[in-house]
Parts: sequence; structure tokens; C-alpha cells
Amino acid sequence: MRKKIVAGNWKMNTTVPEGVELAKAVVAKAAGVPSEVGLVIAPPFTHLACVAEVLKGSGVGLSAQNCADKEKGAFTGEVSVDMLVSAGCGYTILGHSERRQYYGETDDKLVTKTRLALGAGLSVILCVGENLDEREQGRQFDVVSEQIKNVLYNFSAEDMARIIVAYEPVWAIGTGKTATAEQAEEIHACIRKVLADKFGAGVADDVTILYGGSCKPSNARELFACPDIDGGLIGGAALNADDFIKIALSF
Ligand code: PGA
Repeated sequence: MRKKIVAGNWKMNTTVPEGVELAKAVVAKAAGVPSEVGLVIAPPFTHLACVAEVLKGSGVGLSAQNCADKEKGAFTGEVSVDMLVSAGCGYTILGHSERRQYYGETDDKLVTKTRLALGAGLSVILCVGENLDEREQGRQFDVVSEQIKNVLYNFSAEDMARIIVAYEPVWAIGTGKTATAEQAEEIHACIRKVLADKFGAGVADDVTILYGGSCKPSNARELFACPDIDGGLIGGAALNADDFIKIALSF
């Protein structure tokens, strides 16, 4: 049975003290979330070690938002997977559309990063999604399938046990525009099919596939009711502990 997960991507928001307070508020409310729903938060790099202390014993997972594509050495400004593990991370987000769009993240680079992350013992939340142009041209299925193939077809069925996919239509991120449950479900089903073609139906069935893009308490229930939507990757609404927990209670 695949896991349900609600993950909060804080992006470049909060100072360290604000982040610690937000993490404390999430932990305080996490006890009310059924145990079959995994909670994960992804604060900025600077917050990770402090937030790890707050999360100790709470069952809430800690994720980075990115990692370096190199192991270590003279790469000024980069953060390695070993550093993330030593700071207390169990996960890293990779391939977020903001990284693809603003920082030149390519599928090739994501293969390297995913390999390093898995090698260090992290689980990976791999983001895929089409932009507005691609959707308007009706290319969303092709774009997302290619992203999945380009990255995940380089890995084994065993590796897939530590990979979570997040479908995030770029036109829905931070725009207040959510994909309808139907639009999201058809892409999620497509992603599962692409995974099944390579790894078999059993493996594909066990992969957690999250929806992201203006997911909030008012629309989470309808999205999470879809058969192939196993939770959410939450941006804006994850900056408020009440909203984040309400989303986690929407299954
Ligand atoms: P949003 O962001 O919920 O603010 O749209 C989602 C994401 O980019 O992960």
C-alpha cells in the first residue's frame, strides 16, 4: 500500500526564528493527523539543523528543497547530500519548476542529484509538470511523461521505494489557479502508467504521487479523493500551520 503524504515546501520564506516557530506549531498540531498520513516539511537550508531539533520524536519528516549535483569540494554556495543528512534530513525535493525555470535545472542534472540523494540515504520528492504554453498546446501528457522517463527510467525498481513524485502544473503554482481534480487525476494516472511500463504495475502502484499547485484547505479534499492522488506538495498554504494541518486532515 502506498503512503499518503502531505509535504510543505516553504521555499525562500521565513527567518530562522520564524521557521522554528512554524515547525513548533506544525509539531503541536501533528498529533491530530491520522498515522497513515505522513507529514514532511521543507524549510530553507539555513533552518534545517534547528528545525530537525524541533521535529525530533514528532514523526514529522524533514526535507531539503534541493541538493548539489556534486559530492563535495570547491563548489561555492552549494549544499551536498551528506550535509543534508548530517543536518537531519530524510528527504529532498528535486526538480521543482522554480529550479528548472530560474536555475537551469535539467533532467540530466536531476539524474545526478537523484543518484547522489538516494546514495546518501535520502528519499527524493521529484517534481514534474507542464507550463501554461505546453498545456494550451495539449502537450501536458507528453511533457510530464518525458520528464518521468528522462529521470526515473535511470533507476531501479528498488530505488523507486524511496522516490515520491509530485505533479505540479507550473500554471497552478502560486497563482491561486488549481488544476481541477479531473485534470490532476488524469496526469497522475498517466504518471503511474509510465512508471508501470518500466517497473511493472506492482511497483507503480506503490509510488506516492503528490499534487502541488495552489492546494489549500478548501480544495484538498476533492483532490485527495482521486484514486491516483496520494497527497500534496504545498507551497503558500504550508506557511500557516493551521492550513497545513487542515490539508493533512483532508483525506
Ligand atoms: P503553491 O506552491 O502551493 O504556493 O502553489 C506549490 C509548490 O510550488 O510546491
